[in-house]
Formats: sequence, structure tokens, C-alpha cells
Amino acid sequence: MENYLRHCWYMAGWADEVGPAGLVRQILGKPVYLYRLVDGTVAAILDRCPHRFAPLSKGTREGDRLVCGYHGLAFGPDGHCVRNPFADRIPAGADIPTFAVIEQEGIVWLWGGDKDAADPALVPAFPFVPDAPGWRTVHGYTLMQANYQYGTDNLMDLSHIEFVHKGTFAGQGVIFAGQHQVTQDGDTLHSDWWMPGIALPSVAQGHMPPDAVVDHWLEMRWNAPATMRLNIGVCPHGEPRETGFEVPQAHILTPANEHETHYFWSSSRTNDVDSAEVDNILRQLFGEAFDLEDKPMIEAAYANVRGKDFWGEKPVALGIDQGGTRARRLLESLIARESGNG
Ligand code: FES
Ligand SMILES: [Fe+2]
Repeated sequence: MENYLRHCWYMAGWADEVGPAGLVRQILGKPVYLYRLVDGTVAAILDRCPHRFAPLSKGTREGDRLVCGYHGLAFGPDGHCVRNPFADRIPAGADIPTFAVIEQEGIVWLWGGDKDAADPALVPAFPFVPDAPGWRTVHGYTLMQANYQYGTDNLMDLSHIEFVHKGTFAGQGVIFAGQHQVTQDGDTLHSDWWMPGIALPSVAQGHMPPDAVVDHWLEMRWNAPATMRLNIGVCPHGEPRETGFEVPQAHILTPANEHETHYFWSSSRTNDVDSAEVDNILRQLFGEAFDLEDKPMIEAAYANVRGKDFWGEKPVALGIDQGGTRARRLLESLIARESGNG
């Protein structure tokens, strides 16, 4: 069984996924029901009645109470059983585990450990996700049949764009023209590419003249367990970065279980912010890139080593994979520290 980092926030979903019916999602191997209380805040409870294990999500609501659809036990948002339709007495052990959740910047985060230890200060910042005047974000979700750390490998090592994304982002050799640096700041990692004096990358097409010579950067920030932000930037060659533009993206991975991963992504822009057509074009582009290019490769690679220890398989190091390697090592040390073995 996988040993997860507990003292951290896992993305449970986009805020707009938790509608009136709530949202059921497997997180860290457990079925979780996310639902909104009468005051609009999000609550999270194990989606498993303690009687005969029916999902509470298939029951009914009475205000903030969840009523099991099988035999009618009722539970408050704190998980306490508040009504037994068959007796006045509440049976022992009838409570349900609940989880600490925070809704922030359009994202619902779920604390991986003991509720009382949940620390809101540890939520990684994604200020660009919510729409604002002159600012528009599209977001998406896909489920990958692979362990989440294989998704981290993919994101912390963007050299794969030259090979995997031929049909979409099309690196066109820019990665080979670039310098790559991995740095650590506390428990935050940065895997940054800097590509000066190159032809216009596909992300800048339509923003700058087609024959422009530009500087291009791809900067990935990583926080445990697998929460990443990517800044994609382009500016005229040799000019200050501010003369160009930057596209911030979220790339956040949450383990459904050891072998499946929720992949949440977003991309923000300042152009055509009111255009539903541009929204759709971007959704299609990213959907194609992440669903039809990254995902099949990550899943196929993972199928080759499923259930095996990553380091035990003696992966060859190429240097470009330093970001993924450092993230794996740092996560291992955080888990060891937490369990008192580090
Ligand atoms: S399974 Fe929920 S009350 Fe019986
Ligand atoms: Fe990719």
C-alpha cells in the first residue's frame, strides 16, 4: 500500500465541480463525498455509511444533514450520526470520518491527514485561476491510469514536448536550444527552462510577428505532493520579460489511489477574454495535448512498471529528468520526516 504524505493539501476538485448534487471522488484510496452546506461552504465526508456501507452521496439531504438512502441513518457535517430511524439510541461507532477542506482561488483542497492538523497557510498559491476583469482561465480534468509520481516526472521534465507533443505544442527544437536549471527554495522546487534567441514558439503565434526572434521561458514550480504551476513566457529577444507575455497554468495531480491519478489543469490568458470560441479552441488544444499525447504515454510507461519500486527498476538518468528526480527525492524525504524516519 502506498505511503502518502499526510501533512499537505490535495486538490479535490475545481470549485465549480461541487454543484448542488455534490461530487464523489476517490482520493488517497478513499471514496470522498464533497458537498455544499446551506451557507455555501464545502464539506467532505467519507462516502460510506458505517451500517452496510452505502454511499451517502446516494441518499438525501435535510439541510446540512445527509440521510443514508439505504436505511435512513442521518449524519451531520461533522460526521456524527444524529438520527437512527429504528430506535432513540444512536449506535456506537456510527460516526463517519470527515476531512478538512478549503475552497480557495477556485480550487477545493482536501487535507491529507488529521483534520485538527490542517494548516490553511500551506495551500499553494494559484491567484491566476479565478477569472477577473481582463483575465480569463479555462480549466479541465482527466483521470490517468498511472501513479501520480509518473505524472510529476512528465511535468517536471518538459523536454518531452519535443517528442510527445508534436501534434500540439510542437517544441520544434526549442528545448535543445535551452538551458535547464532545477533549484530548491525550502520545500518548493523549481524546474526552469530558458531558451534565448529562438524562432517564435507555437504559444506566441498570433501575439507576435511570425518571423520574430524571441526569448522563451518555461518555469515549473513544484510543491508536495504533486502541485505544480507552469509559467510559459515569451518576449522579444534581449528585451525585458515585461515586454512580452506570460501564460500561467496549473498542473495539479492528486492520487485517486496508488495506480490512478486525477490530473487538473488550467491555462489563463489576457487576450480575447470574452470569447467562448477561444475558450473552446484552448480546451480542445489542451485536451488533445494532455488526454491524447501525455496521458497515453504516461499510462503505457506506468503499465510496464506497475506495482514495482521505481528506483528498484534502475531508471537511466539523462540530466533533463533532474526535476522529476528531485521531486521524487524531496517527497520521499518529506514522507520519511513525517513518519519519524527522516
Ligand atoms: S447502509 Fe446506511 S443506514 Fe444502512
Ligand atoms: Fe506534456
